Amino acid sequence: MIKGKHIVLGITGGIAAYKSAILLRLLIKSGAEVQVVMTPAAKEFITPVTLSPLSGKPVVSDFFAANTGEWHSHVDLGLWADLMVIAPCTASTLGKMANGIADNMLVTTYLSAKEHVMVAPAMDLDMYASPSTQRNLATLAADGVEIIEAAEGELASHLVGKGRMAEPEEILKRVEAFFARKEDMKGMKVALTVGPTYEKIDPVRFIGNYSSGKMGFAIAEECAARGAEVVAVSGPVNAYPENPSIRIIKVESALEMEAAAKEEFKKADVGIFTAAVADYRPEVCADQKIKREATDEMTIRLVKNPDIALNVSKEKEKGQTFVGFALETQDGEANAQKKLEKKNLDMVVLNSLADKGAGFRTDTNKVTIITRDRNVAFPLKSKREVAADIVDMIMTHRAAADGVADEKNTAK
Ligand code: PMT
Repeated sequence: MIKGKHIVLGITGGIAAYKSAILLRLLIKSGAEVQVVMTPAAKEFITPVTLSPLSGKPVVSDFFAANTGEWHSHVDLGLWADLMVIAPCTASTLGKMANGIADNMLVTTYLSAKEHVMVAPAMDLDMYASPSTQRNLATLAADGVEIIEAAEGELASHLVGKGRMAEPEEILKRVEAFFARKEDMKGMKVALTVGPTYEKIDPVRFIGNYSSGKMGFAIAEECAARGAEVVAVSGPVNAYPENPSIRIIKVESALEMEAAAKEEFKKADVGIFTAAVADYRPEVCADQKIKREATDEMTIRLVKNPDIALNVSKEKEKGQTFVGFALETQDGEANAQKKLEKKNLDMVVLNSLADKGAGFRTDTNKVTIITRDRNVAFPLKSKREVAADIVDMIMTHRAAADGVADEKNTAK
């Protein structure tokens, strides 16, 4: 999986920098092409003279080569990289990355990176636990950066606690998992419903909800990053992804969303219903703006909207995997289980508004994924990490279903 991949290995100034040489060797032995980028402080801990022969390339640290004036282009490096791994990553560099402070070659390369970025933080336990570091880690996770958590153990200060950089072998496993995952949806088609629906009352008013589309588009981005061709039928949201692998069909009402979803889901290998669809719509939409002066009270008669997930899933074919969401405030698992059966789904992702940081508009979510044979509860994570967990579960489910189909065929 790693053979021939382009990896930028970023190294910052901490004691754990000595382990970067081991990580570099492991990556090279796995067949990767590695470009080392060091911060000035990193060179106090390990020299380019050690790293350059290991990578087979001159180490980059400054914007210009001192002797020739040659420009080292962070933009070219960002485009070249299939993956950027920053190990160790100090509190200072985490802060700069989280806030776009581009005052060295490593952070400018990070800001130019087009592909996935992983960081392996390393620092003293109190620095790691400080609200500022945790805030920066949360910001980076929300930006889609993969955090390889620091481990517990003895630190450079001889204190014992959380702050040790993950071992190079552990980081290599994460790199391998990234490239394995990256390819696993190649050739697949994924369709999603995303965001809210707006149900018009008159030309200026509507019934809607708080969905921002962040969860749905995080899944769309994850599927695209793993090689799928993605189509998202999206209600009105503030931000749409700009990704050539994600086609977006913009709709407003539940009826429009259903019509588009019926068309698109039948062509998909995987269908995911993340939208918060308005369950009811006004029976009539006034042609003109309803005037406030006209009446002291107002009654709007609502009629039921179609259940898109239920209707589309009726047409589900063999080989298709359909996933629904359940947004609950109480009795979450029982309700999600009922939706799994009633809507003919393979999986339901339960999120609860009772959990802080979960649900609408947040950059994080806390989900339990429910299938017919197991419930897996995940901690609070960035929506992009939640998306990766959901897609992992979908791929495992499909592999198991294929296995069962193969067994049946062999038995015949
Ligand atoms: O967009 P964000 O701000 O990031 O917020 C994400 C989210 C909270 C909207 C998302 O995580 C989520 O929970 N989406 C589903 C919300 C919902 O409508 O849940 P539900 O339990 O009412 O519906 C169950 C399932 O049926 C969902 O898959 C829903 O898309 C689908 N449904 C519901 C009603 C309807 N008329 N048509 C549907 O397709």
